[in-house]
Amino acid sequence: MKPVLNPDMAVMVYLLMEQCQAFIFRESMVNKPLTLPCSCSGHCPEVQWIRFIPKRADVAQSGMCPKQQHSQSRYSVSGDTSRGDFSLTISSVAYNDAGSYMCSCNGQSVTEVKLKVIVPTFVKALEGENVTLPCYGDTRYDVKDIKWMKDGHRVLLYTPANRSVTTESRFTMSVEGFLDGDLSLHISPVHPSDAGLYQCLIHDESQDGEPGAVLLKVEGLQQFTTNNNAQVSVLHVLLGLFIIIYIVLESRD
Ligand SMILES: *[C@@H]1O[C@H](CO)[C@@H](O)[C@H](O)[C@H]1NC(C)=O
Ligand SMILES: *[C@@H]1O[C@H](CO)[C@@H](O)[C@H](O)[C@H]1NC(C)=O
Repeated sequence: MKPVLNPDMAVMVYLLMEQCQAFIFRESMVNKPLTLPCSCSGHCPEVQWIRFIPKRADVAQSGMCPKQQHSQSRYSVSGDTSRGDFSLTISSVAYNDAGSYMCSCNGQSVTEVKLKVIVPTFVKALEGENVTLPCYGDTRYDVKDIKWMKDGHRVLLYTPANRSVTTESRFTMSVEGFLDGDLSLHISPVHPSDAGLYQCLIHDESQDGEPGAVLLKVEGLQQFTTNNNAQVSVLHVLLGLFIIIYIVLESRD
């Protein structure tokens, strides 16, 4: 008699298999390098990295003895494959790299990575200035909280229900602005250590604000004065040259 697999059993087996593989969420800024993890043990395993959402694309392969690698130029299997590390490195993340990736080990999926590509808005400030990082979102419905993250760490939490702002003293968000959908972060004054990638997240991180991310660059005062000094010395040299040329021309008459 042929064994018949009950559809419910098939779903259960599928779910159990799903649990064996790691599901990872990654975010990367456009044009930055990124590494996605994958491990596969055994002697010379056959490893394949594909992107399956939004459209199937072969990304990189590694396997067969002796060691061979086939990959498109921006992608490479960068891990120490002799130790079973088949991590994929994207040398410079493109906007169209967003999607879902799968690493398979001898035909079995072991890692799935959902990659989100962030295009940040740039804000530049001078050390000691007050700076505003823009973020807007619809706050007309019941919003549980607003979070501002810096390089993945929370720097501000606002809970509209009790109008409570939990933050470091130099960081603020306007309670009145919130009612208009203005969730901008004010930093006064800005320190060089504040430089980084900021993101504003709405309602338990379920929604992104607009813009999705802000990259803050802080110019130090020291750097600024050095630049100024350099400009001053160039002016001195030029002035000196003009005087010499003038004297030479005058003496020829
Ligand atoms: C405000 O509400 C949040 C969650 O509802 C709570 O965690 C927080 O402690 C409250 N803050 C104050 C100051 O009551
Ligand atoms: C910067 O912000 C602080 C506090 O919010 C304020 O007292 C100060 O006047 C502001 N400075 C400038 C130059 O706007």
